Amino acid sequence: MGSAIAKIVGANAAKNAKFDNTVKMWVFEETVNGRKLTEIINSEHENVKYLPGHKLPANVLAVPDLVEASSDADILVFVIPHQFVGKVCDTIKGKIKNDALGISLIKGVDEGPDGLKLISDVIQEKLGITMSVLMGANIANEVADEKFCETTIGCKNKNHGALLKELMQTSNFRVTVVEEYDVVEICGALKNIVAVGAGFCDGLGFGDNTKAAVIRLGLMEMIAFARIFCKEGPVSSATFLESCGVADLITTCYGGRNRKVAEAFVRTGKSIEELEKEMLNGQKLQGPATAAEVYLILKHKNMVDKFPLFNAVYQICFEGHPVTEFISCLQNHPEHM
Ligand SMILES: NC(=O)c1ccc[n+]([C@@H]2O[C@H](COP(=O)([O-])OP(=O)(O)OC[C@H]3O[C@@H](n4cnc5c(N)ncnc54)[C@H](O)[C@@H]3O)[C@@H](O)[C@H]2O)c1
Repeated sequence: MGSAIAKIVGANAAKNAKFDNTVKMWVFEETVNGRKLTEIINSEHENVKYLPGHKLPANVLAVPDLVEASSDADILVFVIPHQFVGKVCDTIKGKIKNDALGISLIKGVDEGPDGLKLISDVIQEKLGITMSVLMGANIANEVADEKFCETTIGCKNKNHGALLKELMQTSNFRVTVVEEYDVVEICGALKNIVAVGAGFCDGLGFGDNTKAAVIRLGLMEMIAFARIFCKEGPVSSATFLESCGVADLITTCYGGRNRKVAEAFVRTGKSIEELEKEMLNGQKLQGPATAAEVYLILKHKNMVDKFPLFNAVYQICFEGHPVTEFISCLQNHPEHM
């Protein structure tokens, strides 16, 4: 996704005088076919490991040094698997501009001593910069292919929202800006848990009606969770109708990697870790990890019973419960009682 968004940002920055022409993209250095990945990207303008088959604009410069990539940036776009956020922030802390704006595309949550912590809040606290988020039905390959999609920016400040929209929007990547940034971010994290449930149903041979029920019940739990944990302001139903809500949930339950690996988990009997290594070529799975974090947050609040779908995904992935328990969870869901 980092390369897919760099393609958009690079193209927009090149034609809009408001932005610097060069877009630096920090790349976690790896050796690919005996060569450094950053060198390949800078000579061939393609991230051959993570986004093969898509050319990046020539003004996108891959930089292996994190501080060098970020120290003079006015806008920092965070797109890394959420387990690396802490280390990345610690590396650039005190070395970036104080008034830089941050925008996070990272889908996940953290579990802190007081319960839920948003990834954008983790970044904001560590770096002291103003954060916004971008979430939506945006599977990276399709974004890079310039297939039409929509996305949602969650941003409290109207001027920042307008600027970020100018940076990100194209004719095939349509941006809506809403103020409830915390609801936008929660949607992006929780939908990955629901997608694991959708994959379980596919693995068990259930059909489209079942998947629609998983999506609906998952959405109900997402809304209930946001109403308890998003304390920044209102949690309006309208936000769940944006791309970050129902649209991202649908695409992830049909097309995403969480669904795919969960289906294989049922069909092969292998562990989630084994399948992540076998099937994803270095990419990371977010759904099971988010289910584990959400489970701890709910346990802390004594609320596990109110979120049976989220809980069933956790129990099946980590506590050895049989996958058929997911179907009993649907049959006995409190929404039907
Ligand atoms: N893939 C998507 O369709 C998509 C869409 C929207 C948002 N996102 C979000 O973007 C973020 C990145 O997801 P992704 O799918 O592009 O990545 P991924 O899960 O495919 O992981 C690969 C990325 O992780 C980096 N990486 C590997 N080891 C690292 C390390 N030790 N430190 C730092 N980085 C390391 C790699 O360089 C590569 O860029 C996630 O938070 C995800 O939720 C992904």
